[in-house]
Parts: sequence; structure tokens; C-alpha cells
Amino acid sequence: MLEQLTGHEDPHPIYERLRAQGPLTHDGGTWLTTSHPLANRILRDRRFGVRLSDGSYPSNGSLLPESFLEQDPPDHTRLRRIAMPAFSPKKIDEYRTRVEKVAESLLDKDEFDLIADFAAPLPISVISDLLGIPDADTAEFADYGALVAASFDSGVTQEMANANDKVLALFDRLITQRRRTPGDDVISSLVAAEAEQKLTAQEMLGTLVLLLVAGFETTVNLIGNGTRALLDHPAQWKLFKARPELASAVVEETLRWAPPVQMTSRIAHEQVDEIGKDEWVTLLIGAANRDPEVYPEAHKFDVMRVHKPEHLAFSSGIHYCLGATLARMEGEVAFRALARRMPELRQTGPVTFRESVVIRGMRSFPVSRS
Ligand code: HEM
Repeated sequence: MLEQLTGHEDPHPIYERLRAQGPLTHDGGTWLTTSHPLANRILRDRRFGVRLSDGSYPSNGSLLPESFLEQDPPDHTRLRRIAMPAFSPKKIDEYRTRVEKVAESLLDKDEFDLIADFAAPLPISVISDLLGIPDADTAEFADYGALVAASFDSGVTQEMANANDKVLALFDRLITQRRRTPGDDVISSLVAAEAEQKLTAQEMLGTLVLLLVAGFETTVNLIGNGTRALLDHPAQWKLFKARPELASAVVEETLRWAPPVQMTSRIAHEQVDEIGKDEWVTLLIGAANRDPEVYPEAHKFDVMRVHKPEHLAFSSGIHYCLGATLARMEGEVAFRALARRMPELRQTGPVTFRESVVIRGMRSFPVSRS
């Protein structure tokens, strides 16, 4: 049934059919769960990992250098720890004013595409700045991110392969520069860790590509999905405009109701109940976030709802999104800026969706400020 999700604008009818089969079901060669408690349990259970039980990684044909997202402990723990300080809540809070300035500067048009002109450039600019990518190279990195995201579903094209070579060469150049002249950015901090032999050059490249791609291919859809949800629910939009302090509630409800990452998977390292050793389980985050056992009126977009337990939009357990604090802050800043600067914002034409089943979001969303 999972393959039917391709090309579906609304995955929820299919998720509901799967939910009707029980908390754990088998479909298309993988175990599947739509249950929030079960997905959460599996994500936190050390008997599951992201590699096969012999430590090998089941190649998905991706060109991306391996990163700690594809590592189990102890390598995962070591590499995540190196990247962590740059994303601490304190660091991110210091960064808020800069993000506010970027958001303001982007909202200068009357008619625009909310994705291409606002939701995408904001996180691209933020992550480029954090990593230490010069403005001149930002466009190259941005195109690359979009191609990588497309490759999750459609496989690797020649265009993607070329873009990959270019971006790896760009990172190589920046790494060489920072080895000579360190700055106050993530590339420099990774270069310092490499000098102390805490990670290899290949691991550093993998970390940088992960941060780059994870940094904006998801956040663009938090901003896009949230704005569309607000415009489609005028009472919620009105409430938020009257009470901008609800920005973080808007972020959380968007993440629950329309999570940018719809699914992830784990591999059993040993037999766990009916799941055999080295078998896959797909955790349907989009479905778990609307589990009626956990959230009353789960299909309703309601910024006033109490989020207990936390949604799974950022996953759970040891791979819990490292950029969650940053993404939340970017979302809050974006929604507040829109509500303040564009209270009459309205959709002016049909939206187009990404074809991906993993990443949920729009390709284009035409809007006008009045
Ligand atoms: C709304 C925006 C975002 C969403 C929905 C999101 C979602 C996720 C999810 C679901 C995972 C875990 C996947 C799994 O368990 O298999 C993850 C991991 C990760 N995310 Fe995010 N992410 C977002 C923004 C960001 C940002 C801004 C960054 C910053 C650079 C980032 C960096 C990472 C990293 C480094 C990991 C790997 C963590 C690990 O393996 O330990 N993410 N993200």
C-alpha cells in the first residue's frame, strides 16, 4: 500500500487504511507502524538501528557521503557530539536577531511565491551563514539541496551527480581555507576537531553535507506547510495575528499536523517480537502524529491543542533532530514576520506539491499581501 503514496497530495486516507490494520503491519517488504506510542518506542529502543546487524549500511544508491544520520553508536555518538555545540539552545538564541533581519528583508514584495521567495531563501541563508558558506556560493548549495531531496524519491540523475561533484569540491575548498584561516563557523569547528583527530576528513564532509541538506530541505516545508494551514483555517490565522506569542504553538501544531519529514525507518539488530533480525520497520511519522489514541480530534489543525506527548516530526531517541531548536526558531520568526507584515496575506492561485513521499511540502504557493 505504501507505493500508492507516490503522487498523492493527501497521504492520510492511505495512512488511515494502514492504521485500520493495527499498530504494526507488514506491507511491501517492510514492517510499518502508524502508532505514535509504538513508533516512539522503536525509535528509542537500542535493539533497533540504522545499519544491518553486521554494521554494514544497506546502500540506497545515494551519492551523499555517509553521515552520522546513517551511523549507529559508537560512531554516531562520537560524530553527533562534535556537531552538537553549534546547535545548542544558547547559540541559536543568540542568532535570532539575524534571522529576524533576513525574514524582514525577504518580505518586500506584493505578489510572490511563498516557497521560492520566502520559505526557501530564509533557511538557506541561515544554514549557509552558520556553516560559513560565502554568499557567492550560496546559490550553488541551494540548487544542490533541492536535487538531493528529489533524489530520495526518483533516484540519482546525471544532473544530481554533477551537482554533487561541484558541492563536494566547494566544501573541499572551504575546508582548505579554514585550515589556514579559521573563523567562527561550523566548518572551522569541524576543522579544529579534525586536527585533534576526533573525526576523519571524509566524516567531516559527511557531517557538512548532512547539516546543509537537513538544514533547509525540511525547514522550507515547515514554513510553507504552516502558512498554508493558517490561510486555510481563517479562525486560527485571526487568532494568531491577535496573539503573536502563539508563534511557537503554530510551529508545534504545523509539525504535528503536516510534518515535513513523513517517515523514517529502522532495522532490528535482533529478533524483537515478530520483527526478525535485520528486518526493516518504517515509522510513519505523518500518521503517528495524527494517532487518535494520543491526540483528540487528531485531524483537526488547532494551534491551541496541548502537545502531550510531543509529536514525532523531529523523530525520537538518539537521532532526534539536531537542528530542532534552530528549525523551531526559524519557524517562529517566519510566522511572526508574516503575521505582522502581511496580515491580509492571501493565496492567489493553485499550489503545486512536491512529488516526494518522504518530504511533504509544496513546490509553489502563489500569494499576495493584499
Ligand atoms: C522543520 C525542520 C526539520 C525537520 C522536520 C527535521 C526532521 C528531522 C528528522 C525526522 C530527523 C531524524 C530522522 C531519523 O530519526 O531517522 C532529523 C535528524 C537530523 N536533523 Fe533535522 N529536521 C529539521 C530541521 C533541521 C535543521 C534546521 C537542521 C540543522 C542543520 C537539522 C539537522 C539534523 C541533523 C544533523 C540530524 C541527524 C541527527 C542524528 O542522526 O543524530 N534538521 N531531522
